[in-house]
Amino acid sequence: MMIKHILTATEAAEAVIVKGWVRSRRDAKGFSFLDLNDGSCLENIQVVVDAGVPGAEHLVDFTTGASVVAQGKLVAGPAPASKWEIHATKIELIGRADTTYPLQKKGHSLEFLRTIAHLRPRSNLFGAIFRTRSKLAWAVHQFFQERDFVHIHTPIITANDCEGAGELFRVTTLKGKPDDKPEADFFGGPTYLTVSGQLEAEVFACALSNVYTFGPTFRAENSNTARHAAEFWMIEPEMAFCDLNGDMDLGEEFMKAMARYILEHCAEDVGLFSKFVDKELMGRLDFVVNRPFMRVAYKEAVEILQKSGQAFEYPVAYGQNLQSEHERFLSEQHFKSPVTVFNFPREVKPFYMRLNDDEQTVAAMDLLVPGIGEVIGGAQREERHDQLLENMKHHQLKPEDYGWYLDLRRYGTVPHAGFGAGFERLLMFLTGVANIRDVIPFARTPGHAQF
Ligand code: 4AD
Ligand code: MG
Repeated sequence: MMIKHILTATEAAEAVIVKGWVRSRRDAKGFSFLDLNDGSCLENIQVVVDAGVPGAEHLVDFTTGASVVAQGKLVAGPAPASKWEIHATKIELIGRADTTYPLQKKGHSLEFLRTIAHLRPRSNLFGAIFRTRSKLAWAVHQFFQERDFVHIHTPIITANDCEGAGELFRVTTLKGKPDDKPEADFFGGPTYLTVSGQLEAEVFACALSNVYTFGPTFRAENSNTARHAAEFWMIEPEMAFCDLNGDMDLGEEFMKAMARYILEHCAEDVGLFSKFVDKELMGRLDFVVNRPFMRVAYKEAVEILQKSGQAFEYPVAYGQNLQSEHERFLSEQHFKSPVTVFNFPREVKPFYMRLNDDEQTVAAMDLLVPGIGEVIGGAQREERHDQLLENMKHHQLKPEDYGWYLDLRRYGTVPHAGFGAGFERLLMFLTGVANIRDVIPFARTPGHAQF
């Protein structure tokens, strides 16, 4: 039986079996206490082993990290410490762990734990993070499925650079000889790992109305920050017959629903985060669930930043992209709330965004949150064929590379909008974990792809 089910049992039981790893062992005269954990929950189950039970002759080998199977009676434990404990009738050592086992004691640094990414899931913190990640993935699907969005598996290998930022990983079977021609490559032309499923999601939104993708995304940006990974997961809803306001509404609703979900379904793990990772977590989650978010036009946001009197590393000027320090100032200091910035200058945003009537700005939106900055980036898409052509030229793209994308505007075009939410950044925000490397099982960052 999984330890989480045992710990929430409603009555004692004559015989239960638990399988897990030893977190600690304490020996007393004639008996020992084993704390076992199987990853099903944060809490350990205590197993009391009398020296005479079968298997107890090997007790010295039941060291921290060893795997064991224990059978016994489930009885009320000494309140208030634990509701249940097991009085063993038999114990069995499955796999030893000698004194070199690195997780002997609590209090390892996160940096050290990254070097043992194959063992860190056995620590309390990482168990909690990855259980929460799993629940949150489920919550994402539930959120969209309840709203009748259709899940689309967009391709991982693609020929287009959706964001136009050139941060692509090349996919090739060519051996890198000087005379290799792209036409000789596996797919008959250059291909890459996707930076976004958006363009393909638009195809399906223009047929099935509301769709979403949720998959791995790859960016070869050489930014060694706590918020960037070369491989991350992105959630991308796309809605037909929807404008920027509808898009911003969905982004806010999504954030609130995710916070509500983990408060309801991951209470024990969230308790650990708020105690040991981020003391302000509970207040923040409560705020996200219960209070309205802010919205501000880019132009006003720039004015706020210029008037702030803050010494920013990067200057603030109309027409420049907001840097993460600017984003954080807006949400942490100024609005003290998640805030959506909208209507950015067209120069700093990709070609597919809809040009506003002022012909200077596009219908873009970024949802910024305290501690992280941008968690969601989205836009209303340019649905007017000729304007899209013009946007492409403006961004120095070749329209012939986007024939199918232009076709969506040629045949039954509709206003449509969507966004991308970074799954790891969402997890960081909802757990307080400060580094993206600690919310993904095996981080891929510049110079690092071990495990
Ligand atoms: O703002 P981005 O670049 O938007 C897009 O890719 C759009 N095509 C999405 C859409 O409209 N369908 O990325 C969206 C989000 C960011 O807000 C951020 O949370 C996350 O993806 N993200 C990253 N997360 C981790 N590491 C990186 N290198 C990331 N780059 C973007
Ligand atoms: Mg963005």
